[in-house]
Amino acid sequence: MNTESLFDLTGKVAVVTGGGDGIGRGCCEILAAAGAKVVVSDLSLEKAQLVADGIVADGGTAAATVCNVLNSDELKHLIDFTVATYGTVNILVNNAGMGGGGRENPFKIDRAYVERIYAINVFAPWELCKLAAPHMQESGYGSIVNITSMSSINNSPAMAIYGSTKAALNHMASNLAFDYGSMGIRINNVGPGATRTHALASVLTPEIEAKMLAHTPIHRLGEVSDIAGAVLYFASPISAWVSGQTLMVNGGGVQTLD
Ligand SMILES: NC(=O)c1ccc[n+]([C@@H]2O[C@H](COP(=O)([O-])OP(=O)(O)OC[C@H]3O[C@@H](n4cnc5c(N)ncnc54)[C@H](O)[C@@H]3O)[C@@H](O)[C@H]2O)c1
Repeated sequence: MNTESLFDLTGKVAVVTGGGDGIGRGCCEILAAAGAKVVVSDLSLEKAQLVADGIVADGGTAAATVCNVLNSDELKHLIDFTVATYGTVNILVNNAGMGGGGRENPFKIDRAYVERIYAINVFAPWELCKLAAPHMQESGYGSIVNITSMSSINNSPAMAIYGSTKAALNHMASNLAFDYGSMGIRINNVGPGATRTHALASVLTPEIEAKMLAHTPIHRLGEVSDIAGAVLYFASPISAWVSGQTLMVNGGGVQTLD
């Protein structure tokens, strides 16, 4: 058996949102290493370009474009740019998100905050799925991976809105799997536990980390490569009969901020 071919993405075209840093960057790099042509998109074109340049320097294929996922025109441009650059879309990683830092005091946040976090964490992934699906169907290979969170199933203080946006993504995927299955498109989620990125660093203290590790059987926090590995699994032919699932990648434990 040739196990390498089960993870081979040669000729496939991947799009990643928020690909300029953290988990998104890790996804871009692993998908390119598996042979995919990758469109790295980010709020910051500079960061996206750095990631794309790094992939090209390593012998891979990548292009960068700016995309603020809060803007519908930019979402459309992202898919148009991908099709114009590489001919189609086969893999979509809905990674860009906000609110993971938690501390959403439910008595202080306002409706504008709730609308914004739903727009970035739920509406944008839904919109990109809709824009990408026809290309995936036409190409004969489609895999969508949403980055959700452990917070989608945890219950903890001051996480109600973030947690509910990620729970919405979980449920959206398990339902869209029915709508997309006959189109040859799979849709799955990866739910990171606490993973070392700039976003996590902004809220992590030694005390919080110690508490997290006390509840983590694999006694360390996550690295970007841990999450990217799960994304590669869902993006690849090896998971050809897997759809509508959410895989928590969390060292076997629960890491909360409190
Ligand atoms: N790091 C964790 O511990 C953790 C845990 C659970 C879930 N997540 C999820 O993983 C995803 C990535 O988080 P991260 O920790 O890698 O974050 P990060 O802050 O390290 O990187 C996020 C990237 O997204 C970009 N970005 C921000 N707003 C954007 C927008 N509106 N449009 C496009 N790009 C935008 C940023 O420029 C940055 O490059 C998020 O959906 C987050 O909710 C992270």
